[in-house]
Amino acid sequence: MAKRDSFSGRFAVLVALIGSAVGLGNLWRFPYLVGTNGGAAFIIIYLFFVFVLCTPIVFSEFLMGRRTQANTFGAYKKLAPGTKWNWVGLIAVISALCVLAFYSVVGGWTIDYLIKSLTFKFTTADQGTLATMFRDSVSSVWEPIIYLILFLGFTCIVVAKGIKGGIEKFSKMVMPLLFVLVVAIAVNSLLLPGSSKGVEFLFKPDFSKVTADTVLNALGQAFFSLSIGCGTIMTYASYVSKKENISITASLTSLFDTLFAMIAGLAIMPAVFAYGISPSEGPGLVFITLPHIFAQMPGGSIIAIAFFIILFIAAITSSISLLEVPVAYFKEEFNMSRGKSVIICFFFLLALGVLSSLSQGVLADVKIFGLNFFDLFDFMSANIFMTGGGLLLVLFVGWKLKKSDFMDEMSNGGTLKIKKWFLEAVYFIVKYVAPLVIITVMLANLIK
Ligand code: PFF
Repeated sequence: MAKRDSFSGRFAVLVALIGSAVGLGNLWRFPYLVGTNGGAAFIIIYLFFVFVLCTPIVFSEFLMGRRTQANTFGAYKKLAPGTKWNWVGLIAVISALCVLAFYSVVGGWTIDYLIKSLTFKFTTADQGTLATMFRDSVSSVWEPIIYLILFLGFTCIVVAKGIKGGIEKFSKMVMPLLFVLVVAIAVNSLLLPGSSKGVEFLFKPDFSKVTADTVLNALGQAFFSLSIGCGTIMTYASYVSKKENISITASLTSLFDTLFAMIAGLAIMPAVFAYGISPSEGPGLVFITLPHIFAQMPGGSIIAIAFFIILFIAAITSSISLLEVPVAYFKEEFNMSRGKSVIICFFFLLALGVLSSLSQGVLADVKIFGLNFFDLFDFMSANIFMTGGGLLLVLFVGWKLKKSDFMDEMSNGGTLKIKKWFLEAVYFIVKYVAPLVIITVMLANLIK
């Protein structure tokens, strides 16, 4: 068999993993959640979830991929041969496809808006006009489908070129740019008169706003932001060398993802408040509110271009990681070439993406369980596949995998000097705390 492709070193793995984690979630959800859930109070809860609960889950996904050097389905098959656990690997594949089915539509919108910014289309500061512009763009039939094809096509080309020649090369090229641009926009925002209100909105602790919902929001956001439960971490880790230190690489991923989210908050909220607008969440924030602000800001047309470049990079690097999950699965389980797996995924995702896209317009009234296609894919991935997949993953690593295998993989066969108490604590969290917390959250969401 041909030698399996791999990342060339720690920096390569790290930029690819951070590229997966940093996405639309950091830009259009995190800043808003922080502001409306008690500022620093929310951040403290979020940090707790990210580093105490979710990073050990990231370790678990990572060690399964690295240990087996296989796609998600193959990984479970290797670790628990002759059992039904490999179905959990299949859930990861479905989960990744499900996220891509709506994420790539939004990816298409980012291209649309990048082109609009490059051609200086945000000349009006009238929010009503901008809202209409957004609604018209996403609800028309052909325009968003063409952008979807472009976005998916681009994602497929990078993945088709393989790990070193595609994903690694692309991530190394764009991720540093992403950080430079977001820092530049944050500095600019902070220099605007009246920006301090935005900083206050983000960071002033207000424990009176903390409710049970805050806790659920923080955990849901931590899961989504770290890309847990879709098999992306497991799949990327399967291309990682046996010498890599899992705890360091995975912790750095969580750290940079969180850092980026905070800087994104500083790029967005101070400007929103400087122009006296009340912040919103989701597409409305980045496609309506921000263009409204850019139109009034000195040098706003340039900032707009920089911002939509950021949005595009954030979306595409996450999509690339998601696409690698089914591609690796088809390639290895059905003995296909990488090119052929990519082509199959492209057409399949195009079909799902077209449904999501049309559900913003002509198919808006076609509903399944009361949700249009776009919302259905969003709901199923966040509430069923990602959380369900995450739960089964920790149950597998905590209860099915041997503890000695866990310790062996985390310490690279005992060659790394990692404190015993640290590994024991991580194992305890994965085995007992994580399943309990995930089940509680699932039940709480169900009751809601
Ligand atoms: N973490 C990405 C974000 O914050 O936008 C979204 C995502 C990417 C979720 C990859 C899941 C995934 F597997």
